[in-house]
Amino acid sequence: ADAPRPRISVIGTGYLGATHAAAMAELGFDVVGVDTDPAKVEALSAGRLPFYEPGLGELISEHLATGRLRFTTDLTEAVAVSDIHFVCVGTPQQATSHAADLRFVESAVAGIARALSHDGIVVGKSTVPVGTAARLRELLGALAPEGVAAELIWNPEFLREGKAVEDTLHPDRVVIGGASAAAETAMREVYAAPVAEGAPFLTVGLETAELVKVSANAFLATKISFINAIAELCTAADADVTALADAIGLDGRIGRRFLDAGLGFGGGCLPKDIRALMHRAGELGALEVVGLMQQVDEINMAQRQRVVDLALQSCGGSVLNARIGVLGAAFKPLTDDVRDSPALNVAAALHLRGAQVTVFDPAAGDTARRTFPTLSFAAGTEDAIRGAHVVLLLTEWAEFLDADPVALGELVGRRTIIDARNKLDAARWSAAGWTVIGLGTRPTA
Ligand code: UGA
Repeated sequence: ADAPRPRISVIGTGYLGATHAAAMAELGFDVVGVDTDPAKVEALSAGRLPFYEPGLGELISEHLATGRLRFTTDLTEAVAVSDIHFVCVGTPQQATSHAADLRFVESAVAGIARALSHDGIVVGKSTVPVGTAARLRELLGALAPEGVAAELIWNPEFLREGKAVEDTLHPDRVVIGGASAAAETAMREVYAAPVAEGAPFLTVGLETAELVKVSANAFLATKISFINAIAELCTAADADVTALADAIGLDGRIGRRFLDAGLGFGGGCLPKDIRALMHRAGELGALEVVGLMQQVDEINMAQRQRVVDLALQSCGGSVLNARIGVLGAAFKPLTDDVRDSPALNVAAALHLRGAQVTVFDPAAGDTARRTFPTLSFAAGTEDAIRGAHVVLLLTEWAEFLDADPVALGELVGRRTIIDARNKLDAARWSAAGWTVIGLGTRPTA
């Protein structure tokens, strides 16, 4: 007879953990999600998401109903009924340095180790500095009860916010680090469905697995900062960075994705990951990586200042008392996440310079207000831009790109829009009397 399917626990139910738990249930496994925060567990157990993520609430509700998914604060109980334990807790940036804060992964692994009552596999998914997994492996060995065989392996996650469910169920690849033959077999069973669909299954060393994750994010960040540096050159030389990206992107070795110039990257991953990489590479003496990532970070942050400067310029040098309508607060569309959001950063900078800034975001209004309570928020695009001297498009939500420039033109004080994501149909907006200012594109008159 077939061996029984492994039962799964997922420790940490943020973006990563909640999505992974739901995806594992969707693949047919019995899953229990664990979080130390009772409010989160209560919400998820009722099928409510503590954050915005398209499709995830539905998937969780579906598998609460099938009985394959449940949530608890009781780690010991969850570990007792599971065979594979995925560690999905956060590794935030430390307050005082660029290093990652590893307290949560350490306490998760220690907690699992102490709770083990039968053999198990601990699978790290959190993004960690290289070398962490080896230390966690020692911790697991030291704390696991006598007679229980426990193995720690690494399985980085590449999901994007806003596309989390799709990315988890249909990954580009599955990377497994440091697995024994038995653990590899278990992982092949867990990921049988995506592998059957064609996702390559890659087995690598523990350290390589940790580095694959950060290198992927570092490369994506580098691509964005590269095109933003070229955008500066395009502005100086009267060229157009979007047309340029389309042309170079057709080279298969380059690729068009992640070559959108504009306000740059933000969110809970790319900025923190390149800084943590910088820090760890420094510790290990890999100084070229430090320099490269520093440059990527600097170019990225300069884009925010550039947009502030464009707003200042378009208001005649000072924004004091100028009415500015800001469209977008989230770090990208399809999320309510404002962690390190370039949009919120620019809105706040203009507010601090004395502008009357009104912000609207289709999903991130509440999270943005909690982060920056002194900004004013509108309930819709119209209210955000009414009477504005300049409008700033900072997050490229579809509803902004699809908005009617003729109708919106009636509401503003002056028809000037800074398209900080280079995503507006400039011809359509300028036909409606707007001046459209992009980054690395020529302003329309
Ligand atoms: C990123 C990676 O894309 C995921 O593969 C990874 O798993 C995740 O981090 C993580 O480490 O957890 P995410 O932070 O959700 O995912 O967001 P992205 O879609 O990568 O966008 C990041 C930022 O780059 C956004 O602010 C976006 O506006 C900006 N961006 C993206 C550009 O400025 N230009 C582009 O061409 C593309």
